[in-house]
Amino acid sequence: MKVGVIGSGTMGHGIAEVVAIKKHSVVLIDVDWKFLNNAKEKIYNSLTKLAQKGEIKDTPEEVMERIKLTLDYKELADAELIIEAVPEKIEIKSDVFKKVDSIINNDTILASNTSSIPISSIAEFTSRKENVIGLHFFNPPPLMKLVEVVPSKFTSEEVVRRSVNIVSELGKVPVKLRIEVPGFVSNRIFLRLLQEGCREVENGEMRVEELDSMLRHKVKLPMGIFELADYTGIDVIVDIWNVIVSGGADDVPCSLYREKIARGELGVKSGKGFYVYPAPGKFVKPELVPTSKGEPARFISLAVNEAAWLVANYIVSKDDIDTVMKLGFNFPKGLFEMGNEFGFKSIIDNLVDIYTRGYSAYKPNEYLYNLVKD
Ligand code: CAA
Repeated sequence: MKVGVIGSGTMGHGIAEVVAIKKHSVVLIDVDWKFLNNAKEKIYNSLTKLAQKGEIKDTPEEVMERIKLTLDYKELADAELIIEAVPEKIEIKSDVFKKVDSIINNDTILASNTSSIPISSIAEFTSRKENVIGLHFFNPPPLMKLVEVVPSKFTSEEVVRRSVNIVSELGKVPVKLRIEVPGFVSNRIFLRLLQEGCREVENGEMRVEELDSMLRHKVKLPMGIFELADYTGIDVIVDIWNVIVSGGADDVPCSLYREKIARGELGVKSGKGFYVYPAPGKFVKPELVPTSKGEPARFISLAVNEAAWLVANYIVSKDDIDTVMKLGFNFPKGLFEMGNEFGFKSIIDNLVDIYTRGYSAYKPNEYLYNLVKD
């Protein structure tokens, strides 16, 4: 299979790597050789690590040979699948999809890795809306198993079916949404965790490092929520936030993330966010002193409430929610599994407590009361 990847940044270069590891040929496109050269180096470094750990059979050089770097869109002409991973600006997406639309075959799948722009809006830039779909990978793509498959209201059943098969063939686990919702499943839940983190810090219940330490050491998450905000990019988070809230979700007052952006502290990419990194783009795990402060059930309550909304609206199943958290965020357990462990009664009690302090987003979803009855 020939796959085109447009945009060679954090996600694009990782996706190209995943495809090439599975022995497919990749055309990786960007607007300047400086981005492509940087991507080449990052792919090579990542492949070297994977090879050292025995996680790939081919040598890094063999995998690299399958990736063609170019500035020329014509190279995409006979691709079976094109995955766009350019910056999250609607004007840039529009340019890219219009350009691609004029080059490709009728049955090429046009996928976007966007995390915040509606797939149906992107589809409108093309003359084949039924071929456009969201394939949402997770950072870092070579290590994260999940891909959300997001059909827009225009996507054909055939394109959905082929996309699910391709994702499995790439060695990833697809979770298909019934229909797209702003932020999809992963980022709606991620946003709720970020909002509760912010609420606890701004209300003086926890400090940033305390909450992250609790999440790493007590809940056994791979990263604390502020560490993950830094890793993802605080600007990316605020984009996701805006799209979900403008899509109708109740907001939670919080200024922490926007203040960071105003100071140019975007996380790992700028060398500073909630933590300080050795250089822009260089991630080193923050040291955190273990603490027993904090309540895991309280921290996940808003996210569990969001998950309940997603299940109650038949966007995905309960099991899908757990898969998203375990394979998209490397949680040791899914949200419903954690809810079972802490008790849904305790989740509801925390929601009610925060709701009665004036936070409307915390109103418990009916579905949670059913879980308690069950
Ligand atoms: N390729 C190959 N190896 C890599 C790698 C890559 N791209 N990135 C990290 N590694 C390796 C590191 O080099 C390191 O190897 P060694 O043990 O040999 O040194 C190993 O993975 C572990 O890395 P670290 O010690 O730096 O840190 P860690 O133990 O915390 O693992 C992590 C890093 C795998 C990223 C882990 O922290 C994790 O799973 N974090 C959660 C990530 C997550 O939630 N991603 C989703 C973000 S949201 C998103 O992407 C969607 C969106 O729309 C915003």
